[in-house]
Amino acid sequence: MSLTRRKFDTLIIGAGGAGLRAALQLARAEASVAVVSKVFPTRSHTVAAQGGVNAALANVVADNWHFHMFDTVKGSDYLGDQDAVEYMCRAAPRVVYELEHLGVPFSRLDDGRIYQRPFGGQSLDYGGDQAARTCAAADRTGHAILHSLYQQNIAARTHFFDEFFAVDLILDAEGYVLGAVALEIETGEAVVIEAKATLLATGGAGQLFRTSTNALINTGDGMAMALRAGIPLQDPEFFQFHPTGIAGKGMLITEGARGEGGYLVNADGERFMERYAPHAKDLASRDVVSRAIATEVREGRGCGPDRDHVLLRLDHLGAEVIMKRLPGIRETIRTFLGIDPIATPVPVYPTAHYTMGGIPSNRYGQVVVPEREGAEEPIPGFYAAGECACVSVHGANRLGGNSLLDILVFGRAAGNHITAYLKETRYHRPLPQDAADAALARLARWERDGDGESVDGLRGELQRVMEEHCGVFRNEEVLADGVRKVAEIERRLQDARLRDHSRVFNTARIEALELENLVEVALATVTAALARRESRGAHSRIDYPERDDVHWLRHSLYYREGRRLDYKPVRMKPITVEAFPPKERVY
Ligand code: FUM
Repeated sequence: MSLTRRKFDTLIIGAGGAGLRAALQLARAEASVAVVSKVFPTRSHTVAAQGGVNAALANVVADNWHFHMFDTVKGSDYLGDQDAVEYMCRAAPRVVYELEHLGVPFSRLDDGRIYQRPFGGQSLDYGGDQAARTCAAADRTGHAILHSLYQQNIAARTHFFDEFFAVDLILDAEGYVLGAVALEIETGEAVVIEAKATLLATGGAGQLFRTSTNALINTGDGMAMALRAGIPLQDPEFFQFHPTGIAGKGMLITEGARGEGGYLVNADGERFMERYAPHAKDLASRDVVSRAIATEVREGRGCGPDRDHVLLRLDHLGAEVIMKRLPGIRETIRTFLGIDPIATPVPVYPTAHYTMGGIPSNRYGQVVVPEREGAEEPIPGFYAAGECACVSVHGANRLGGNSLLDILVFGRAAGNHITAYLKETRYHRPLPQDAADAALARLARWERDGDGESVDGLRGELQRVMEEHCGVFRNEEVLADGVRKVAEIERRLQDARLRDHSRVFNTARIEALELENLVEVALATVTAALARRESRGAHSRIDYPERDDVHWLRHSLYYREGRRLDYKPVRMKPITVEAFPPKERVY
């Protein structure tokens, strides 16, 4: 089959904040850079980020990056790599000021400086008073950032492949990544995109779960591509459930709502967070608040006829604060619940939100794999950044406001590292004859008609299984059953068919490819969750309720081949400051 071939210095897969920040750095350094995106770039999931981006600007309280670093390490339940955490927290003010100069319309204080709101898990003086570190553009911060980055990339002449679906990476016999095979969604034509450096920035896998804040596009594509290329996934068992999704539906109600003074109540009208986190209360870390809500419901103190949610009260804040600081969530609540939060409490329940695990990478964005002796080696020319990567700055639990920061800091860092790499890498490596064969075989599988099970039905079943077997609380029996059920879905997917192929649009084929990706990531997630016999951050095992630093202060590595797990140490040593040793985590 003769395929269209395109050549660039750099291929970036994914046009969210990480991909666009890296692309901008490269395009401004005169590299030829192509961004492949399965949706129009400004529809990438970064657009949905609401509450803001953390940076110790000290505009509202006397803050500094050391406190931010402490909070992030503690929030990660000590699984974050402290060199990467230091790097991120130190870089934060700079990347936020850069955004300001790129045109992001941040909300302002009366004196004109950037508005910052309190968010969960933030403190001053290493666990003291509540900080206010989250720089916000009302409750549409991701939207503002993504649009500014896209406009700047257009000005810098980044080349976009809009509505192209990346099928698989191309590797040579020595393991170099030479680019990727992508499918143009409109025409169904495959194209080979060759590059000297490839960056995966495809976002997370929130579609693993039925109730999720994530867009339909978040199907773990980059993570699955990496797995098929022989790269392990790091810490996939750590999946964040955001405390305040709209109950039963999942849409995000920003943590900024509690940052502005909102609070949670149970059926008795009790502010129950005071029992779970006496100091931070409703602004404890997300894992803590999600567990508290799930516990209130399990113990019969849930609200509504089915006692299956709690209420978020914003009605005391007043119309002015809500309309100025939280206009987006007011609109969402009115649209999906038909109530106005200015007057009526909002039913909420934890909802799948963020993939803490991902492709192992370092603070330069390089993908790193452990060698046989245990040392880590970067793969030359291969990078990952953002939610699909695991640097690891979030460890077992990410702090709100640190995901926008992660994509900006490490997208930028990857762009810089690739720029240097390109200076030493003048030529493309030769493309093997069979470069595209595996990807084309994957595509061909979904060209057959037949009467097999529907892809859509299987996707729904996978999401239900993940919700029931890998949710906020887990145990051995439920997880083992989950592994078995996901493996069974994987087997049934082999026999699934697109019905009457001649009449379906390519999007149906894309959905099948996405489901293959989701199944890969689901298997990694449940397998690693079953193996980790402790409770840490978002991984809460009822049968192993304590954190166990002796045996489990280490990162998981899940390999697709043989569904094998391996482990590697946490990097406890920061770059310039003293380490924060693990201690009991209370809020
Ligand atoms: O609650 C939120 O606005 C989400 C922010 C985040 O996940 O960082």
